[in-house]
Amino acid sequence: MLRTIVTGTGHYVPPRVVTNQDLEKRLDTSDEWIRQRSGIATRHHVEPGVNTSDLAVEAARRAIADAGIEPSTIDFIVAATLSPDHYFPGIGVLVQAKLGLGTIGALDVRNQCSGFIYALAAADQFIRTGTYRRILLVASEVQSSNLDYSDEGRDMAVLFGDGAGAVILEPSDRDDGRGVLSTHLFADGRFASHLWMEKPCPADNPTFQRDFFDQGKFYPRMDGRHVFVNASERMPEAVRIGLAANGLTVDDIDALIPHQANDRISQMVAKGLRIPVEKVVRNIERLGNTTAASIPIALDEAVKEGRIRRGHLVALTAFGSGYTWASALLRW
Ligand code: ACO
Repeated sequence: MLRTIVTGTGHYVPPRVVTNQDLEKRLDTSDEWIRQRSGIATRHHVEPGVNTSDLAVEAARRAIADAGIEPSTIDFIVAATLSPDHYFPGIGVLVQAKLGLGTIGALDVRNQCSGFIYALAAADQFIRTGTYRRILLVASEVQSSNLDYSDEGRDMAVLFGDGAGAVILEPSDRDDGRGVLSTHLFADGRFASHLWMEKPCPADNPTFQRDFFDQGKFYPRMDGRHVFVNASERMPEAVRIGLAANGLTVDDIDALIPHQANDRISQMVAKGLRIPVEKVVRNIERLGNTTAASIPIALDEAVKEGRIRRGHLVALTAFGSGYTWASALLRW
């Protein structure tokens, strides 16, 4: 039976570091407030002119080099983002063109902070069925150019960073237990408006209206308390469902990578699972919340640091706009 294994990882964050002190100059906030509520000290922002697909391409190049493969041997792309270069098309085709990958298919996944795990689930099916043999899965975000630095939007403006992460996925028929063991995907669309960007909306005619700009409706908004409670509950729940499906327990996990939403949420996830916090990969202090990219960035860092090694059980979990949430278990 074919299993999907990760044969390369890579990530890229733009060079410009934005500290909490930098934000203090731009909006009514404080280093203390940001650290206390989110655990974030710095995040990276792109320079004007840099697009989401540009970051994706850099991360993809690193994953390709890590896998030691010829780019021309990639036969499919799956791309996840909530901040595509354009309203349409998605970034998958732009990544394909920029990497010169011929006419291979490119699928775009729109599941926000859960995007990487949703995309992994889709790619896993293509590999297991033998449809594709070498998939580039990339998640990328540029959030910094559309944050509301007024009092209304400052809860979100301090959280987000830009960045991209990528993995190369291939089949393995070896009997060594390695690979993606399971993915579990969930959603509850009743809460879509609790974490969203309301406009642009095609039901408005014309779609782009000056009033909406004036009302700040083109910015992301969240009900922070509702998000906090649901993220803290749903991520541990999704991991437990994944473990039960595989006859495993929390003690079997060697590394847990939660979506880096907010360090307080990650701590709640660790508490909810009763997993030692040392097993939880956390980089939000340096990178902020990079939405779909946060898991593959953290995965690449953990692998390169030797925190994730051959044979380890790696648990991924995410929660985000939709609401959507998910878990994945991988034997590394
Ligand atoms: N700097 C300073 N003050 C701020 C900022 C800021 N950046 N943002 C908001 N505030 C103010 C608010 O205006 C409000 O002021 P007021 O009391 O004068 O009206 C006050 O801080 C509210 O802060 P809290 O006391 O923390 O609010 P609450 O008690 O509702 O706390 C909670 C809720 C749980 C702390 C929540 O807001 C939170 O942190 N949620 C997590 C959401 C999150 O991290 N999401 C991640 C992104 S989504 C994702 O990735 C899934």
